[in-house]
Amino acid sequence: MAQGDTELEARLEEQDEFEPSEEFVAQANVSDSDIYDEFEENWPVCWERAADLLDWDEEYDEVLDDSNPPFYEWFTGGELNACYNCVDRHVENGDKNRVAIKWEGEHGETRTYTYQDLYREVNEFAAALRDLGVEEDDVVTLYMPMVPELPIAMLACARIGAPHNVVFAGFSAEALATRMNAADSRFLVTCDGYYRRGDPLDHLDKTNEGLDSVDHGVDATVVVDRLGDDGFGHDLKGNQHDWDDLLDEQGGERVEPVERDAEDMLFLMYTSGTTGQPKGVKHTTGGYLSYATWTSHAVLDIEQEDTYWCSADIGWITGHSYIVYGPLALGSTTVMYEGTPDFPNRDRMWDIVEKYAVDIFYTAPTAIRAFMKWGSKYPASRDLSSLRLLGTVGEPINPRAWKWYYEHIGNEDCPVVDTWWQTETGGMMITTLPGVKNMKPGSAGPPLPGIDAQIVDTNGDEVKPGRAGYLTVNKPWPGMLRTLYNNDERYISEYWEEYSDTDSDDPDDWVYFPEDGAKVDEDDYITVLGRVDDVINVSGHRLGTMEIESAIVGVEGVAEAAVVGGNHEVKGEAVYAYVITEDGYEEGDDLRARIIEGVEDAIGPIARPEQVVFTPELPKTRSGKIMRRLLEDVANGAELGNTSTLRNPEIVGEIEAKVRAQSD
Ligand code: WTA
Repeated sequence: MAQGDTELEARLEEQDEFEPSEEFVAQANVSDSDIYDEFEENWPVCWERAADLLDWDEEYDEVLDDSNPPFYEWFTGGELNACYNCVDRHVENGDKNRVAIKWEGEHGETRTYTYQDLYREVNEFAAALRDLGVEEDDVVTLYMPMVPELPIAMLACARIGAPHNVVFAGFSAEALATRMNAADSRFLVTCDGYYRRGDPLDHLDKTNEGLDSVDHGVDATVVVDRLGDDGFGHDLKGNQHDWDDLLDEQGGERVEPVERDAEDMLFLMYTSGTTGQPKGVKHTTGGYLSYATWTSHAVLDIEQEDTYWCSADIGWITGHSYIVYGPLALGSTTVMYEGTPDFPNRDRMWDIVEKYAVDIFYTAPTAIRAFMKWGSKYPASRDLSSLRLLGTVGEPINPRAWKWYYEHIGNEDCPVVDTWWQTETGGMMITTLPGVKNMKPGSAGPPLPGIDAQIVDTNGDEVKPGRAGYLTVNKPWPGMLRTLYNNDERYISEYWEEYSDTDSDDPDDWVYFPEDGAKVDEDDYITVLGRVDDVINVSGHRLGTMEIESAIVGVEGVAEAAVVGGNHEVKGEAVYAYVITEDGYEEGDDLRARIIEGVEDAIGPIARPEQVVFTPELPKTRSGKIMRRLLEDVANGAELGNTSTLRNPEIVGEIEAKVRAQSD
């Protein structure tokens, strides 16, 4: 490392507040600090500012209908079409030749879609879906990797008013079936395969296995041919159709975008919760789209001219809001990359930034920690001077990783927005407005204008700055989930019951609980500490410990299992499994391998345990409750918490010794 670098690192190390450059502020979409007061004084009418970024077929009558909390309705009476807003209006406004999607495959092949190209394919696919029998309000499941056909299918669904239900391609066959069953979805769009670290991966085989477990049967499946000659030679079955054939048949067909009520469902997205059953988060057309677009404009600072790249997978909410809906509604160019960040080399990300002259880059802390580990020589070998703004999402970012990102990717010129939000919130909630606020590494920032968040104790009383408490949101916002699919009761019990007076119909008595711990400083900057429920965050992906446990106890030879999250240098958290075997079964590598396989089959490789520790007992309280906190301490090599309430305190030391032996 050169002398200058060391000095720089030492200086950054000490700095805990960073100002955006004058140059950035001068061009920012939002640069007036009055916006916070304006939103507060005019709440909820302030949200017209978000709705105004869209074209409405029918103006709304009311910004917020809060007469039946927590079933809030936004922009009621308004009608619009999300696909029209993301595609047609740009074509009509003379931007048909502007690039909408720049796609790069793992092997370096590229595809470019102008807004006109997108318009044509989306229309043709919408027509194809209709011909296959998809009607308004039918849920269409999209089980696809990062190929352009995924956003095209999403927009085609939106065009005909059929909510989509995207299932992350890395999820298992079983996870696909669970989500299709829960959503009562009879249509599926999938893919023959995709590339991972250079090798083709069979996706259709997994799809077919999943389809066998869909209770209600499936009317039609569409299969994208991604692999061509590298494919696995599956024959399509009777109700399976080839994507290209369908488009050829439709050749140039047009479908009028249907006028959707603002409160009509745009999509469903299943996310992990505390129970084994994933939650079907419902998002709407008017509120969600306004909110995703507004935050893309205000926080990501996206302008039409920008080339913007979010490296998330569209299979998660980040990709929905900030690869597809927000950037396309704003008419910008959104980059999509199919593969892994280290293929063929560890400079792949920076190669893409240089090649497309990316202006704005949005990624996850886990990725930043991996880049950091690989070393700054990789970004240094590329020209990253096109970058104007950087963002992170998905988990807390430690100040060291933040500073590395700021220095080595942003060249100390680009503000970094650390954005806190959730699948349920639809869009960003807590982060700095980059043209207005200073940044404090490690802290997401203040709540965005119009968002009312507080840190409280278990009684719901606000805690003092610096003290850890629970994050709550006290007012509704347009991007919020409306309910859990077909399960209003669980919607209330999961998100509202904790801090609300559920008998009241006064919205002031209703408080949203995201199940995160947090603290706030004197300047109202919030540091999110992590989940306080049984959900762990592995590489920015939300996984329910109960889901993993039920996969493990499903394995022959396992009697009982407890899963916790342990700290991990790159992934943030990793899955640690403590397992009791059934009598007659041997602890050992064979069972360990079957446990890992069982988890991969039930959920997918992302949930694979980092460590499987066999133990004769689990630490339990006298009432028989597993003490997860102690297991977390063991996983983290931390000093053990209080064991005096345990029925079997001696077991903790035994488990600890085993973990240590396995780690050596
Ligand atoms: C965590 C991803 C700290 C948090 C958009 C939240 C964060 C969960 C941050 C939601 C952040 C997300 N700082 N923690 N900037 N962003 N989280 O639904 O625990 O996949 O509740 O949505 O990720 O994960 P989800």
